[in-house]
Parts: sequence; C-alpha cells; structure tokens
Amino acid sequence: MSSLQNRVSEILQGFEVSHDRIRAISDEFIRLTNQGLKSNKEAMAMIPSYVTAVPTGKESGTFLAVDLGGTNFRVCSVHLNGNGTFKLIQSKSVIPKSLMVGSSKELFSFLARHVDAFIKTHLDEKFTEDTESSTSQHILKLGFTFSFPVNQTAINKGTLLRWTKGFNIKDAVGKDVCKLLQDELDALKLPVHVSALVNDTVGTLMSRAYSAPGLGNTMLGVILGTGTNCAYVENISSISKISLQSDKNIMVVNTEWGSFDNALTVLPFTSIDSEVDGNSPNPGYHMFEKLVSGMFLGEILRITLCNLHKEGVLFSSSSESLELPWSIDTSTLSKIEADNTEDLSKTKETISMDLNIVATLEECKAIKKIVNAIGKRSAYLAGAAICGILTHTRALEKMETVDIGLDGSVFEFYPGYENLMRESIKYLLGEDEKRVMLDIAKDGSGVGAALCALVA
Ligand code: GLC
Repeated sequence: MSSLQNRVSEILQGFEVSHDRIRAISDEFIRLTNQGLKSNKEAMAMIPSYVTAVPTGKESGTFLAVDLGGTNFRVCSVHLNGNGTFKLIQSKSVIPKSLMVGSSKELFSFLARHVDAFIKTHLDEKFTEDTESSTSQHILKLGFTFSFPVNQTAINKGTLLRWTKGFNIKDAVGKDVCKLLQDELDALKLPVHVSALVNDTVGTLMSRAYSAPGLGNTMLGVILGTGTNCAYVENISSISKISLQSDKNIMVVNTEWGSFDNALTVLPFTSIDSEVDGNSPNPGYHMFEKLVSGMFLGEILRITLCNLHKEGVLFSSSSESLELPWSIDTSTLSKIEADNTEDLSKTKETISMDLNIVATLEECKAIKKIVNAIGKRSAYLAGAAICGILTHTRALEKMETVDIGLDGSVFEFYPGYENLMRESIKYLLGEDEKRVMLDIAKDGSGVGAALCALVA
C-alpha cells in the first residue's frame, strides 16, 4: 500500500461508526433527553415550544412568516387553504456576513425593512381582504422562525441562549428575540404582530402534519441542512421543568440535538474534528452538529485534505481554496459522492473546479473514500439520534407507522443520505425500521411558522 492509502485507511477508521457505537449513541441520547426535560441547565436544551397541538390539515387563513436561521433570510405570506394545501409567496435574500456578527439593532432593523418591502410589493388589495377576515383590526399575524437555541417561555417569547451556525451578535444574547423584531417593526409603523416564535424543526413538524392530513402520526421534524436539529411530540407531563395550567396533553419540544454529547463521551470525534471545532465561532458547543450538518462537512473534508497535503502524501501543489477555512461547501462532497464513473472523471473535475487542483486517479480514489466516510458518519449519527427519540417516546409501540418530516440541503441533496440513515435505524430497530416514514417537508419555516401563528 502507498503511504496515501495507509493514511486514508487510518482516517476512515476514525470516521467509522460501529454498530456498538450506534447503540451507545442512542442510549446516551435517551439519557440526555430525560435530563433536558427536567432541567433548564442542560446543553441539549429540550426547549418547550408552547405549541400544544399538531395540525390536522384543516387549518386556514393568511399569515406572514419570517425565517432567520441559516444562510438565507426569507419573508413570506402563507395562505392555508384548509385542505392540506397552501399558497406561498416569498422573497429570499442572503444575509450579509457583516450582519451576522454586528449588533442586534443592525440585524433586526434589516429584517424589519425587508418585511416592510415585502408588504409593499406583495400584499395587494386582495391579500388585505383575505387578512381582514382572518385577523382582527388589520393586524397581520407573523410567525417568526428563529432557528437558534432560545429559552422559550411563551409561544411568542424567548431569550437567546447562544448563537450557532456562524452567527455571533453578542448584545442579542439574553434578549427576547420576538421583542427585538417587534420593536423594529413598530418603529416602521407596520401593522404586524409577532405572534409565534418558531424553531425550524417545529415548523417542519407542523408543516409535514398539515400537508399529510389523514396520516395523523407525524411525530418528528428534523433539519439536516446548514445546522441540524429535531423537534418531536412529547407528553406535557414529561416536561417536568415547566409547570403549565393547561388542559392539553402534548407539546412539541425542540431538542437542540446539535448540542448532544458536548462532553464527547460517545461521539466518534477525531483530531480533524477537533481542528474544525477550534476554527468555529462556538468551540466546545454543538458538537453533534459539527459532525453531522452541512456547515461542517466541507470543512471536515478541507482539513483532512490539507493535513494529507502537509504530510506530503496528497497533491503535488496546494491552492487557496485548500488553505482557506470554510471554503469547501457540502455541495462539493455531494458531487464527489454522486460520481459513478469508472475513471472518477467527475471527482477529478469537481476537485479541479472547487479546489483548483489537478488530482491523479489514485488521489481521486482516496478523496472519494474520505467523502464517503464523512457522509456516512453524518447519516449514521442522525439515524442513531432519531432512534433515541423513537425509543424514548415509544412511538412505534403506540402507532402502526411513525411519520417524520425532514428538510435541509444535506437530507435533500446528499446522494444516498436517506438510505444510509435507514441503515443505522435498521441496526437499532430491526424490521421496525420499515414502520418509520421519512419524507421531505417543504417550507417548514414558512408554512410551519404560519401554523404556529395560527395556534397562537
Ligand atoms: C442549529 C440551531 C437550531 C436549528 C438548527 C437547524 O442547530 O441551534 O435551533 O434548529 O441549527 O437549523
């Protein structure tokens, strides 16, 4: 074996998730779930959403939704037709990097100005008529999808615990993000009320339940995109850290599983992951997310290749993209993963386009194996965490099938991801894996937020 092959097989071993480890992860997940439901101090925060019903598909009305949570910012109006279908108009913009690390005033006034522009462009008279019948005093109800860990204390109240996914606006931490948005909307005199604070996973669960009426068994909403997280339907009596006077039995809980096992007791964490973590804005936090989500898969690959180059076993020359942190996107891995050519010509082309490096066939083979291992580890970990929740809720004991709504670029575009997730689910659940339905829930952050604004 060449020295490249030797090093690659060592690296692959580090990324491997053995069957024993899948089980250990699922068990630890259940333990931390129970801890988080009891106490507010846990990193895997188990945040109560104050959403106490899952849609039936019959909900109707017109709502505004704002979505802040990843690379893009969206404003939309959502009309729910009351039969599982909806009409959505949206405007999407990229959040300037400077706003991700500036002041809260700058960010939230930027959001409010976009809401203003959206209303002026899209909310013509017809829309105003619709909203008049569904809301009082011409006030538009807005669902705010804000996909970061918050300490949520009511359906439209929550203080930011910490930023993730590259955001770092220090003065916003500890503040009520609904109030920050409402103040800026009020400053522009907009007839808009922030009615619900919604995590994207909660929105995904809600939108899947709405769009799959009749199934009645949507229990989880999962995001596998820039970040990763999951919300699920819990018995209110099990959320012992809150006391709520309510006649309702269930509440959707946002797990914040990105912070699963920050202590690194069961995760397959390597020295490469340690470098990724060190370069991130939140070292030591959200460690599960750093092995699973789209924001990190590219960086894991970049650091691996960069190290191999420094060791003198890969690439005869370097490039700016190889050296520059965060310069490789998950789409690079998706393209390499999708390459079925015998001579790996697609891989060679991707490395040339995305890394500006000419790779030999041996190098392409090595890189494809590494990519494969990074993607597989991500999917196996996501599958193990899902099993943790299914076991914790005993959902499969109560229902014939359990429906899971998913969204995010990794789940949607990474070739073979769902099958890999299923492999790890099958290892833990055996034949019951067939009773787990995985399906894309589109527009969770828009439609789901509208549904939350409706129940608010
Ligand atoms: C991060 C956030 C979480 C969100 C997830 C997916 O993990 O902390 O709130 O749901 O990304 O966007």
